[in-house]
Amino acid sequence: MNIKQRRTIRKYTQQPVSDELLNQLIEDASRTQTMGNLQLYSVVVTRDEERKEMLAPAHFSQPMVTQAPVVLTICADFRRTSDWCLNRKANPGYDNVLSFLNAATDALLFTQTFCCLAEEKGLGICFLGTTVYQPQTIISVLELPELVFPVATLTVGWPAESPNQTDRLPLQAIIHQETYNAFTPERINSCYSERESLPENKHFVEINSKETLAQVFTDIRYTRKDNESMSATLLTALAQQKFLKAENLPGIIPAVTERRPDVLECDVVRFQNKKEKWVAFVGLLDGFPYEIFTGLQDDEEGIAIPKSVQKGFIIKHYDRDGQKRYDFQFINKRGYKTTIEGLSERFNPEYWDYAKLISGVLRYRMPIDHVIRLITSLQLENDTINSWTAGVARVLKKYLPDSSQTFDEEETE
Ligand SMILES: Cc1cc2nc3c(=O)[nH]c(=O)nc-3n(C[C@H](O)[C@H](O)[C@H](O)COP(=O)(O)O)c2cc1C
Repeated sequence: MNIKQRRTIRKYTQQPVSDELLNQLIEDASRTQTMGNLQLYSVVVTRDEERKEMLAPAHFSQPMVTQAPVVLTICADFRRTSDWCLNRKANPGYDNVLSFLNAATDALLFTQTFCCLAEEKGLGICFLGTTVYQPQTIISVLELPELVFPVATLTVGWPAESPNQTDRLPLQAIIHQETYNAFTPERINSCYSERESLPENKHFVEINSKETLAQVFTDIRYTRKDNESMSATLLTALAQQKFLKAENLPGIIPAVTERRPDVLECDVVRFQNKKEKWVAFVGLLDGFPYEIFTGLQDDEEGIAIPKSVQKGFIIKHYDRDGQKRYDFQFINKRGYKTTIEGLSERFNPEYWDYAKLISGVLRYRMPIDHVIRLITSLQLENDTINSWTAGVARVLKKYLPDSSQTFDEEETE
């Protein structure tokens, strides 16, 4: 199909798209340019009906996702390249925003080349920008590892519709000779008046009870509120996939997840309470503290874990009688999983209750500096508990967004 005739296709026939054709198109599209010829993208092909159903909510249940014979999720991918480096005595440094942008650029260039080639073969395509709105669902349905991030989705099939072509702004709206020409009100008029006068757009304004077409975009289709909340979700997901570090996100509050996932990553942080050595298990969700357990480091009654252990998992476990408990699991130096069962049973109930309160505040994502202020302002009866709260506050300081301070494991008060 000539580019002048192209249009987005959102309805497809039942005719399958063969693996042979799809593979050929993907292979041909891989001739597209990429950074350092590293091909920083991956394509996940979804044909399975059940998996399409699982992906659909992330795309606001747009019907194309379940109706199209093939759904392609194109991902910015620095995982494969990093693994290649690690296997070849090279030290990759691609867990950062610049690397994400480079990989996303490669992925989107590949996507567009694929679209052109597929449309040339007569296939119909719809690009779904919703991919970056709720990436966490897509990440989990497609089991994307760290350093892989979905940036585009294409629904692909043989066209079952022939919609009218959409309009385009005039050339002068997009072209600037030598330097950028500001858009005066007159220039805006000449760029947008034709679009605004189209009957379908006038209809759009009317049915939405708006005054201008621009208001349909700002107040209904792409609102500030939605953009800001989805930006926060996007940043959190980028941190989760390790393209961003939580400490680079000042002011970003991660999304509230009320139902605790069964398994949470966790940091193990030692601290001093009076003369005793204590340990805190800080459960992390999306890289931010979500809950905290603390206990005495003690071989007999408390918790004994090797000093080298700094990370692990807190696992929610239900006994046969439905009783809930939390276990701590870490991988020891020989690579074996070791589980300490029943974190909750090992602690003095009073500390446990205070930790539960602090975890409640963390779960609802009160900014860490406020949590620390709250904890340090508590004036409790018992001196030892006061010393414990000071220890917990020091543990949490590690998670301040702009914290350049490192937490001294054996810090004394
Ligand atoms: C970044 C991006 C996001 C898009 N997201 C969607 C989408 O979620 N749903 C949809 O139906 N079309 C989506 N589209 C398709 C556009 O609506 C379409 O390209 C545009 O209206 C112009 O129409 P045309 O492609 O037929 O010329 C998207 C396109 C792009 C480039």
